[in-house]
Amino acid sequence: MIADIVVDLQYGDCGKGKIAHALCKDKNYTHVIRYNGGCNAGHTIYHEGVKFVTHHIPCGVFFGIKSIIGPGCVIHVDTFLQEIEELEAAGINAKDLVQVATNAHIITDFHRAEDKKDEEIGTTKRGNGPAYRDKYGRRGVRALEEPRLSKYLVSMYHELYENEEFEEIEVLFEGAQGFGLDVDWGDYPYVTSSHCTVGSALLNGVPAKAIRDVWGVAKIYETYVGAKDFEGIEDIFEEIRELGQEYGATTGRPRQINWLDFDLLKMASRINGVNKLVINKMDILDELDVWKVYNGPHMLEFDSREDIEFWIRTKLMVEVDEDIETFFSGDKEYI
Ligand code: IMP
Ligand code: MG
Repeated sequence: MIADIVVDLQYGDCGKGKIAHALCKDKNYTHVIRYNGGCNAGHTIYHEGVKFVTHHIPCGVFFGIKSIIGPGCVIHVDTFLQEIEELEAAGINAKDLVQVATNAHIITDFHRAEDKKDEEIGTTKRGNGPAYRDKYGRRGVRALEEPRLSKYLVSMYHELYENEEFEEIEVLFEGAQGFGLDVDWGDYPYVTSSHCTVGSALLNGVPAKAIRDVWGVAKIYETYVGAKDFEGIEDIFEEIRELGQEYGATTGRPRQINWLDFDLLKMASRINGVNKLVINKMDILDELDVWKVYNGPHMLEFDSREDIEFWIRTKLMVEVDEDIETFFSGDKEYI
């Protein structure tokens, strides 16, 4: 078995969907598996020039690859079924490719109603936190108990280990949210209720030795959506928000903006064991031609894109791992 994992190194919305989509195009995956989160996620994908926003469904469907919502996920059945209909209407064969792990958990309407009352965290109000709470409280509802999901259900064990359909299983794990929102490593309590690291992918039934590449995804500036104060005080953040279309793909809320925090990038790269790193949204700062990064408490400013690229790439190689390959991207469709 071979597994590549896509993880977000900041606060979500760094372009995991784009990277997963590009990897599906290039590699020979037999499965794409979403390993955490629910419909709090919003993945923006440009497929053959058309924009799609998915919440539950992994991007393998765009390439005819089996796409599984793994046991680490929570699923809202109406949203899931509606997403399938939308993809089918756009000509994507989702019905035959999407599967749901029998042991994934259900987000009930009761969970949603409860989450709607949240004021402290600034959740997406999609019922995510209450669904995970009930899962760990051992009073949750699993996918296999939901008749409307019956035709989509899959046993992960059987699919990964007793499958005669494929000679070798090659999995792409597509995560949701990001390191800064991870329930253990993020800025608690301003976090989501699942794990957003490589460890979380492995919980979906794949052995550690299967890991080939860990693709870390970040942006050249940071964004965060939620209740805490995050945005820096510079007028330019307003411009970045507009140019970069930094509004939530799920809720439409404006994302708060700040400069890239190198220490967070370093910590997330170390803990996830990243060996390929993509820094997105270079095109936005290209337009403004302002290049800044926090190095611990210090704010560094660079004269050009080349200078900041050199600094980030070299520092990651010196301080994290000399084998890290860093890509800087502005393009919507390609890495
Ligand atoms: P929840 O996951 O809906 O409980 O929200 C908890 C925190 O995570 C809030 O700050 C949300 O804005 C944030 N969050 C959850 N999902 C995403 C996402 O996909 N992108 C960005 N932020 C997210
Ligand atoms: Mg998103």
